[in-house]
Amino acid sequence: MRYLSGIQPSGDFHIGNYFGMMKRMIEMQDKSDLFAFIVNFHALTSVSDPERLRQGTEKAILDYLALGLDPDKCTFWLQSDVPEVTELAWILSCVTPHGLLERAHSYKDKVAKGISPNLGLFTYPVLMAADILAYNAEIIPVGKDQKQHVEMARDIAVKFNNHYGETFVVPKEEINKEVATVPGVDGQKMSKSYNNYIEIFAPDNVIKKKIMSIKTDSTPVEDPKNPDTCNVFALYKLFANAAELVEMRQKYEAGGMGYGDAKKILLEKILNYFEPFKTKRAELEKNKNQITQIMKKGAQKARDIASPILETVRKRVGLQ
Ligand code: ADP
Ligand code: TRP
Repeated sequence: MRYLSGIQPSGDFHIGNYFGMMKRMIEMQDKSDLFAFIVNFHALTSVSDPERLRQGTEKAILDYLALGLDPDKCTFWLQSDVPEVTELAWILSCVTPHGLLERAHSYKDKVAKGISPNLGLFTYPVLMAADILAYNAEIIPVGKDQKQHVEMARDIAVKFNNHYGETFVVPKEEINKEVATVPGVDGQKMSKSYNNYIEIFAPDNVIKKKIMSIKTDSTPVEDPKNPDTCNVFALYKLFANAAELVEMRQKYEAGGMGYGDAKKILLEKILNYFEPFKTKRAELEKNKNQITQIMKKGAQKARDIASPILETVRKRVGLQ
């Protein structure tokens, strides 16, 4: 099975990104034909500072490798190194109804948050469809917020196939129900753009501050508490094993444990969990030449797949 998913280099990777998508991707490199990439073309829709984009991209590559992505076990590349996808995006845009894009929640949310409504932001799902269809990907692991985008890619593939003949594999999203939406420190969806996120590679004191700021209710220390409505517990669930969860649930329900104590336990878990990745990241950072080589090789592997597919598409539509 071919698994494929991309991530934007537009900010710090956070716990929501990791449990919603990256962890699953890294696991799948041993079990599938995995395609993982950094979507810098997509980031251009919201990042207009070139230095920020360059640094963000370099950081995203290092972070992903440090988290365990192994370029020998998968195809890992930078989106803009495969120009075929922009060509395919244009062709696909000519079979995409305007009304389909007008229904995109993500576009409306981003504009409501103040991101400039440029044409790239509006056609973002078409480029994402091209990313998926250019590699004949079958399964797309994403968080819940990307479900509609993958459905659009599916609609576009079917529309193209119906009109021009069977060309594309019709993709399907894969959403891990348990971590479909990881909450941020305010209880809303954790997101780079909401400033409610807990980043993976921040110094310990920054993470501590974020954990201590998690929103909780005002139940007094001695009273029993409901773990199922608590943001601290929701995050603890991502890191704890079954026995630890039972123990934590009992502490909530028994009363006598303050939210401050629960936060300290969560903090320790998070710091321990990401410690080995931080060590690996520091090592990778010393060898930037090697990273350049990895990305060059990855781009070539990706192009070798996308080129013949584009060749077929050009013939199907009459460009050749
Ligand atoms: P952000 O919302 O922080 O900008 P992205 O849109 O770059 O994140 O998302 C990258 C990947 O991480 C996507 O597959 C997305 O669905 C997933 N993801 C992002 N935030 C969360 C979250 N809070 N819970 C689960 N998955 C998430
Ligand atoms: N839109 C996705 C996000 O913001 C990133 C993305 C771009 C993507 N192209 C993709 C995800 C192709 C899966 C497949 O998270």
